[in-house]
Amino acid sequence: MSQRVVIAGGTVVDPVAGKAAPGDVLIENDQLVGVFSPGAGGAESDTVMDASGLLVLPGLVDMHVHLREPGYEYKETIATGVAAALAGGFTSLACMANTDPVNDSAAVTQFILERARVAGGARVYPIGALSAGMKGERLAEIGEMYRAGIVAVSDDGRPVMDAGLMRRALEYTSMFGLPIIVHEEDGHLAAGGVMNEGVTALRLGLHGIPAAAEEVMMARDIALTDLTGGRLHVAHVSTAGSVALLRDAKARGLAVTAEVTPHHLFLTEEAVAGYGTNAKMAPPLRNARDVEALRAALADGTIDALATDHAPHHHDEKEVEFENAANGVVGLETALPLALRLVADGVLDLPALVARMTVGPARILGLPAGTLSPGAPADLTLVDPERRWRVEARTFRSKGRNTPFEGWEMAGRAVAVLVGGRLVYDDRPGTAAALRSAAS
Ligand code: DOR
Repeated sequence: MSQRVVIAGGTVVDPVAGKAAPGDVLIENDQLVGVFSPGAGGAESDTVMDASGLLVLPGLVDMHVHLREPGYEYKETIATGVAAALAGGFTSLACMANTDPVNDSAAVTQFILERARVAGGARVYPIGALSAGMKGERLAEIGEMYRAGIVAVSDDGRPVMDAGLMRRALEYTSMFGLPIIVHEEDGHLAAGGVMNEGVTALRLGLHGIPAAAEEVMMARDIALTDLTGGRLHVAHVSTAGSVALLRDAKARGLAVTAEVTPHHLFLTEEAVAGYGTNAKMAPPLRNARDVEALRAALADGTIDALATDHAPHHHDEKEVEFENAANGVVGLETALPLALRLVADGVLDLPALVARMTVGPARILGLPAGTLSPGAPADLTLVDPERRWRVEARTFRSKGRNTPFEGWEMAGRAVAVLVGGRLVYDDRPGTAAALRSAAS
């Protein structure tokens, strides 16, 4: 029997139309029926979900997540990563291939999809390795992984130093229409570096990674994209020079897209000043000029997506000297409130921000997500923009506690998440109270 639910009384944000307005969202079973004017959806429905005071968004999409399973379950599992994603408002995730074994075969891709099915909740889309074992020597079994369900190809974390291999990868993946996601870093220029190269590194006595390490690789890969007609997606862009390269590539009509992380939009190399290892990641935090350029690029669409690069690590891997600490920070549970700050700061408007967290990444990966179109999967994120809370890593659903935002005061939080019309996360105070009184 068909079941119709109306999500009524909220402010509906449509990232495709670029609008935020009061409205009702009607869903039938696992699909969206459409958006109606306030009050009009109720007559059609069996059940009403009250969204007054809330923002109603298409479910958020994070195209860059490290779920760590198989192989590093002590850092995160698919189940804990999915739980963290839902608490952060994400309904679709793409997970990186740097697991153990590396996701370079259909068997590993199928394993990830099966674990995600068992975990339930968010939709998980595996990214396959570009090279076998992520060794940068020969192509992985891309065709076989494509048939098993990968949505992109990447050796993320391991830059592809061999330009010939990158050329072949761009040619080969274009047969499947798959994007290649690149971590742009010249290994020779970055060698020995642990933070941004500049006066702060000099003062701290740490080896630096110059902005040029990112930019020379990006320039190379843009040239190879031009040569091959492939699709290039640049992960975690970190420098003003990279933004200029992207702008130029897009103006030339090349199939080049990019993402930025919340940490690169809110922190600079100064965050490393106390040698706190939660400010260590690859690429490193840069300077204020870079942050300004990244914010402007996110606003004008030069950068298509906001992605977390959620990279959980065990505390033993972080509670060591800065030089020896693992790279990476968790991000699933702090991305949305940080992103909302960009709106409060006037960097971009709410529909544009939501586009970078929904339809932007969904289009890059070809996912059935990120819009409110009739017939789309009923994946929705309800956000209380006024909910005030303080970041306390010990309360995270993720196993990773490595956040550089510990103690930050946040405004805004996902309070209910639907995936395929099913309520898979619910943190609305009224609901929690109702459940408590029903139980007593
Ligand atoms: O900081 C990072 N951590 N950057 C990467 O590219 C890889 C990631 C990880 O896997 O921990």
